[in-house]
Amino acid sequence: MAKEKEEGSLKQLVALSKRRGFVFPGSEIYGGLSNTFDYGPYGIEILNNLKKLWWEYFVHRRDDVVGLDSSILLNPMVWEASGHVSNFSDPLMDCKSCKTRIRVDHFLEERMTPEEFEKYKNIGLKDPTEFTFLIKTGKYPCPNCGNVGTFTEARNFNLMFKTSHGASEEGSLDIYLRPETAQGIFLNFKNIYTACRKKIPFGVAQIGKSFRNEIMARQFVFRTREFEQMEMEFFCEPGSQKEWFIFWVDYCMNWLTDTLGLKKENLRIREHAKEELSFYSEATSDIEYKFPWGWGELWGVASRTDYDMSQHEKFSGQDLKYHDQVKGTKYIPYVIEPALGLNRLFLAVMSDAYEEEKLDDGETRTVLHLAPRISPVKIAVFPLMKKDGLDMKAKVIFESLRFHWYSDYDDSAAIGKRYRRHDELGTPFCVTVDYDTLKDNTVTVRERDKMTQIRMEIGELKPFFLDKM
Ligand code: GAP
Repeated sequence: MAKEKEEGSLKQLVALSKRRGFVFPGSEIYGGLSNTFDYGPYGIEILNNLKKLWWEYFVHRRDDVVGLDSSILLNPMVWEASGHVSNFSDPLMDCKSCKTRIRVDHFLEERMTPEEFEKYKNIGLKDPTEFTFLIKTGKYPCPNCGNVGTFTEARNFNLMFKTSHGASEEGSLDIYLRPETAQGIFLNFKNIYTACRKKIPFGVAQIGKSFRNEIMARQFVFRTREFEQMEMEFFCEPGSQKEWFIFWVDYCMNWLTDTLGLKKENLRIREHAKEELSFYSEATSDIEYKFPWGWGELWGVASRTDYDMSQHEKFSGQDLKYHDQVKGTKYIPYVIEPALGLNRLFLAVMSDAYEEEKLDDGETRTVLHLAPRISPVKIAVFPLMKKDGLDMKAKVIFESLRFHWYSDYDDSAAIGKRYRRHDELGTPFCVTVDYDTLKDNTVTVRERDKMTQIRMEIGELKPFFLDKM
């Protein structure tokens, strides 16, 4: 029952996203393309607000972090060096009967008890054939056709998207779309520290698209094949990594709660067990969010050692060491990496804000309690009626406010309906112009969460909103 309710709330969020122009299914008029999404006029505002807030917190407010925008297309040697060609894969099997492709670890996790799954997970993820005997016992039928014992052997499937670089057939080079933004940062470490005279410890932050050919892309925008990441690589002296790792986990968590206002009870930190760590990682902590279906990774903070930089030095043949002029030392820096998915953050923010609220009159209103700095529209301005000069007056107010805050002017439908629409968009304030406005220059300001209304002079609006947003 509880699970149905949880899945129901994801469905409602998906429905709201389409109804109100946050997220649309991709290529819809051609029957769609599975697991692709387009962010509509209000969705893109939220994404842009989140990116801006992240950039301010991770780059502008810090003396020790700078920004970068590196290419999506990189020399294929990069992925040999980073280990993605040999290691970046998921275990999968096919049903020989209906051709359904299944990600084995997810399939078993959903069917086994947590204790059973824990026992098999780590060996199976290292060698997927270890999963096969469990499947061949015939205990688990194909989720699509119901046949038993029709699965192929489990095997590893590389998640990188291949494409061609260059126009001619013979001259073109097989390359990959980047599966993470991180590698572009490692490649530019030396450029940045020489060009910008940065001294270790310092970080490089980047926001950009990444691509992974996920086998089981699912749960709306939680896991998609094309997504956006906000990553920072923090380069530090060997030996100082533990301290910095603790610092950055804390820093990230504070941003989620203090700047974005996510509920503390919906966030937790999960430290990876030794067997679970990626081959390059010394320590990893996931900041998990309680999504409508349960806890899931939102933000991974990893202590990546000197693995990436050492590999790039080895594969490129270049000296990528940092020269500490003061101490007279030379070393490959250690790296702490907080890696966040923007689309997953969008889903967390929307889930956190979504409420179907029962009102005193028995009606239900759907409302997004977004922090004003995340809300797509900050202020909506309504004339009570579209006549008698009320609309003209409202437009003048709207024009003066939109100069400072992204605002909306709406003179359609009954006032109650206009409030409901903006509750669903998460607009924190609505300003209504009525007949009294024409007499005494006052307007009604209605607040979204408590639905309280206050009367104030038009001249007071700007300082009022400056104080609130
Ligand atoms: N550079 C390290 C790295 O990419 P990751 O844990 O694979 O680490 C970091 O990814 C974050 O990117 C995740 O915590 C998640 O928020 C997001 N992410 C990863 N795969 C994703 C996908 N297929 N769809 C949406 N977001 C994804």
